[in-house]
Amino acid sequence: MSLLKIANLSGGYGDVDIISGIDMDVGAKEIVTIAGTNGAGKSTLIKAAMGILPRISGTMVFDGIDLMKLQIEDRVRIGISYVPQVRNVFGTLTVLENLQVVEHAPAKAARIRDMFDLFPALAGRRGTYAENLSGGERQQLAFARALMSSPRLILLDEPSAALSPALTDQVFEEVKRLPQADVAVLMVEQRARQALAFSDRGYILDAGRIVLSDTGANLLANEEMGDVYIGRGQVQAAPQSPSSHI
Ligand SMILES: Nc1ncnc2c1ncn2[C@@H]1O[C@H](COP(=O)(O)OP(=O)(O)OP(=O)(O)O)[C@@H](O)[C@H]1O
Ligand SMILES: [Mg+2]
Repeated sequence: MSLLKIANLSGGYGDVDIISGIDMDVGAKEIVTIAGTNGAGKSTLIKAAMGILPRISGTMVFDGIDLMKLQIEDRVRIGISYVPQVRNVFGTLTVLENLQVVEHAPAKAARIRDMFDLFPALAGRRGTYAENLSGGERQQLAFARALMSSPRLILLDEPSAALSPALTDQVFEEVKRLPQADVAVLMVEQRARQALAFSDRGYILDAGRIVLSDTGANLLANEEMGDVYIGRGQVQAAPQSPSSHI
């Protein structure tokens, strides 16, 4: 049975549909990657799943629960968590404070200890303001914040954005470990080749519609899709983006 099942989902920010007729499944403990060109609607789709897209129609069911009427807080409560593409930590709070301010985290002190075990680099930086973290550390903190609520599904919007290839590898290693902790992953990635290599399945989005879905391995082998949507050859370093903090 699917953990998350999306059917015929359409929606946008105003009258225009940015995503249209989306059918998508994420199983328990699965890693699923969404790839596609800039502006295809990938972040919009993730926002719809989290309940922060202003207008949607269709159906979304999580663990047997109808999501369509649930606000973001309720989605967090039932086990969905979200790491936005930008502004995913509070720059003017310390690492520890970033974890302490997370709501819907029962047994918070114990959970923070778990997060420091999981991300030892953060443990040594607990008093550092998030705006002074390296890109990789900041991404780890964003992850840790999302894991505080013990989600069963985590929505990741470009976890490798603005990271060097080495830090990308590090973050991807953490993504790969999530299913062992019973966390399923629905992830948007520009570094699609690299992400699909460890994804159970993938969806290719173009102009707001799914144009292809298959196993990660089959998508990588698909010659037709290769050049346009997932890129061939050398993985390029992402351009540096300004530091993101609220
Ligand atoms: N808050 C918003 N209000 C209005 N339009 C928006 C908003 N956010 C995104 N859009 C529009 O929706 C479309 C899809 O944007 P989205 O951010 O989902 O693309 P994306 O696939 O995530 O792109 P990228 O790879 O650049 O992150 C774009 O045309 C964008 O201009
Ligand atoms: Mg995006």
